Amino acid sequence: MASSSELKLFDRPILAIESSCDETSAAVIYGRSVLSNIVASQIEMHQKWGGVVPEAAARAHVEAVLPVIEEAIIRSGIGRDELGAIAVTNRPGLVGALSVGLTAAKAMAFSLKIPLLGVHHLEGHLLSTLALETPPPFPHTCLIVSGGHTEMIDVQALGEYRIVGATRDDAAGEAFDKGARLLGLGYPGGLAIQTAAQSGNAKRYPLPKGLSGDTIDFSFSGLKTAVLRLTEKEGDAISVPDAAASLQETVVSVLTERAMRAMDRLDSKALTLVGGVAANLALRSRLQAACDLRGYSFFTPPLSLCTDNAAMIGLAASYQLANGKRDGWDLDVYPNADI
Ligand code: KG4
Ligand code: ZN
Repeated sequence: MASSSELKLFDRPILAIESSCDETSAAVIYGRSVLSNIVASQIEMHQKWGGVVPEAAARAHVEAVLPVIEEAIIRSGIGRDELGAIAVTNRPGLVGALSVGLTAAKAMAFSLKIPLLGVHHLEGHLLSTLALETPPPFPHTCLIVSGGHTEMIDVQALGEYRIVGATRDDAAGEAFDKGARLLGLGYPGGLAIQTAAQSGNAKRYPLPKGLSGDTIDFSFSGLKTAVLRLTEKEGDAISVPDAAASLQETVVSVLTERAMRAMDRLDSKALTLVGGVAANLALRSRLQAACDLRGYSFFTPPLSLCTDNAAMIGLAASYQLANGKRDGWDLDVYPNADI
């Protein structure tokens, strides 16, 4: 097992930029230290439409990107001339949104005459655990749960990833977001469901768990349909806290069951939980308890590094830059890309 002290990371501060969806973020990273991590959220704007509108997201990034970068540099206490590289999310994500971050990153790298590196958004989530005081050992198993992805990954080493399980339809975050919309809890749904669930009875409305049998894949689309049927059947009599608690319990128990099965299959002793849905407190404590019971170690980043942020992009860039990886001025954006 490799320990964190053996990690070879870039030896100069990195400015990282993330704009793949609805958060404009910039951060300064030095080694495994997050010196600043600024996030400008577009949530209020997208709430009007009940979801992310790509064109509006790109325009909001245009407005926010330079002030957010400026703030990240000031808060880091690092001078512009001390920066050693610019890292930017260039895949996957909304093309217009990604383009804004990439253009800003190119301009910064060009004017400061320092290297530029494009980073995969999911590798950013996956390596967000590097910021922990005690980061996970390698190999480990990683459960990525976000608004667009639900994947179980066998992480052999930095840069060596194998997807061993994935959703066949909706992501875990979508289950929360769509469920929340149906229950009138608004957008984004994850935190709203968690808050409503606090006073709810999770046993009140039994909901389907999707795939059965010996699998480490997921299916959450039936859950959304079941919540729709529930709202139609119950009408005004529905208890929103009970429905939210039932939905959360279903997602948490499926994710926990599959994670433990994957650990078993991979003979893995360390689990990481990352991505926006990793901010869910019920999920964090259930996985911690399941790992404790089996003697596995469990790692999940602080909440600020779960939902989209640039610090994780800088962390993922650091080992690649240390290994000499660089991108050219022709670096492009990609809406879809494998990790
Ligand atoms: O990683 P992320 O910020 O963006 C993507 O890469 O998709 O994840 C966003 C997702 C949304 O679906 C949101 O509802 C969910 O993370 N989320 C949560 C919580 N906070 C955010 N889901 C459950 N509980 C939360 N507390
Ligand atoms: Zn994300």
